[in-house]
Amino acid sequence: MIRVDREDAVALVTVDRQDALNALDVATLTLLRDELRGLAEDEGVRAIILTGAGDRAFVAGADIKYMSTLGVTEAMEWGVLGHETGRLLETMPKPTIAAVNGFALGGGCELALACDIRYASSGAKLGQPEVNLGIIPGWGGTQRLARVCGLGVAKELIFTGRIVDADEAARIRLVNAVHDPVLDKAREAAQLLATKSPIALRMMKRLTNRALAGDHAANLSAEADSFAELFSSEDAKEGLAAFVEKREPKFVGR
Ligand code: CAA
Repeated sequence: MIRVDREDAVALVTVDRQDALNALDVATLTLLRDELRGLAEDEGVRAIILTGAGDRAFVAGADIKYMSTLGVTEAMEWGVLGHETGRLLETMPKPTIAAVNGFALGGGCELALACDIRYASSGAKLGQPEVNLGIIPGWGGTQRLARVCGLGVAKELIFTGRIVDADEAARIRLVNAVHDPVLDKAREAAQLLATKSPIALRMMKRLTNRALAGDHAANLSAEADSFAELFSSEDAKEGLAAFVEKREPKFVGR
């Protein structure tokens, strides 16, 4: 099952299928996608944390028992469902944070990679072990791992299936930081982000997502357009005025 707990403007989304180390089957992944769709639209939610229930796993991957039954057509649908879920985390107009509290393997690592920021507990283990199953990462790993860690690291991890511990994950920038308990770190970051201007964050996310793709000049031009457009917002006026008046800004998202 998927649990969604609202903590003020932060939504904590927990994958809870502990008897399978939170591996995702069709029902659980469909629920996760649907919950994320709702949260993406909900203007009361300003930041999202994704984590796993219990203290052993974030998500131990796609459900291998289920996948052992699939033919090509079902595997296509399964891949699309994973991609839809990853794209929501990656493109929804608010920050998403993975709190990696244990195994984040295969599809689990891929969902973490789709989030904007990743924090890990010191006992976390991350990787793309699909090669050991005779398959490939199918929920974005062949693309996002290279974007986050660089092509050389991505190829080594994907080709060998080697699992990395939290310290190595931080060293290769697969996670932003290691912290126990990891949820405290994720909450602190999410609560901080929830105080920022949602309009500025939305634009930042859209623009930084373009940074490693497409045409550099066109991306810079998009930045220039967004920068100028923001000056029509109440939030920009408020933020600039608050600095001048030596007070804390209060952002409303307009
Ligand atoms: N799918 C289905 N069940 C899983 C699972 C998965 N990905 N990962 C763990 N489980 C289940 C185990 O089968 C076991 O269930 P039973 O008790 O019913 O046998 C239970 O979770 C506990 O797991 P273990 O007994 O194996 O626990 P362990 O501590 O000995 O090992 C582990 C932990 C190293 C994570 C091991 O479970 C493991 O290797 N899991 C598979 C990890 C993996 O390969 N993930 C990638 C899947 S492929 C993928 O995700 C494709 C994609 O890109 C979308």
